[in-house]
Amino acid sequence: MSVRTIVAGNWKMHKTAAETVSFLDAFLPLSDALPAAIEIVVAPPFTSIPAAGARLRGSRVRLGAQTMHWELSGPFTGEVSAPMLLEFGVTHVILGHSERRAFCAETDHSVNLKVHTALAQHITPIVAVGETGDERAAGSTDERVIEQTRAALAGVPREALSSVVLAYEPIWAIGTGKNCDPAEANRVMAMIRSCIDGLHETPILYGGSMNAENVAAYVAQPNVNGGLVGGASLDPQSFASLVANAQ
Ligand code: PGA
Repeated sequence: MSVRTIVAGNWKMHKTAAETVSFLDAFLPLSDALPAAIEIVVAPPFTSIPAAGARLRGSRVRLGAQTMHWELSGPFTGEVSAPMLLEFGVTHVILGHSERRAFCAETDHSVNLKVHTALAQHITPIVAVGETGDERAAGSTDERVIEQTRAALAGVPREALSSVVLAYEPIWAIGTGKNCDPAEANRVMAMIRSCIDGLHETPILYGGSMNAENVAAYVAQPNVNGGLVGGASLDPQSFASLVANAQ
């Protein structure tokens, strides 16, 4: 059974609503010529989601959010819930990104709560896991990544695992230009796939300084099903080239 390929652009704290519309005005015409089998997602900041949702309606490009709360409503100042995202056509949500773990108190436990909510609300969770440079140097990469994956997916029924997307994002490779060797990424991703029963149809993306030049070497690996892309997703031409090279 072949696993679907996904390329998701994580815009982080970049692009106003007006800049989002300019990006999409340039990217959408290019997207028609990109390989049809690749699922393309863009994840703008919350304030750009209404404009992006309107512009993406009827297109092949799916809309992602960069996080969400696990409750559907309530006294959580500054937070955004699944129904608020669904209202604007959000189909995917990135959960457990290392920047949110480091700066916004995201924990394995909150990631797990959010995964359950996303699945219940029919939003595809893209769950990020990955080790720091120190953890890699200490030889604890495998242990760390297995621990994060098992915690994020705790209690998820086996039949729901194909509705989850995982992303292996070594933290030392994010935004540094020092991408992980593709064969090593594949080794870790194979281990992720086998650490829980039932992940054989779950797409696993690589993230960390992926670009149009190096993406082909990743997707050539048997356990890499696409990418979660930061910096190289911000320019419409370079993101389109990256997707074109991801088949
Ligand atoms: P990068 O970011 O592609 O800029 O390294 C990836 C990510 O943080 O998802």
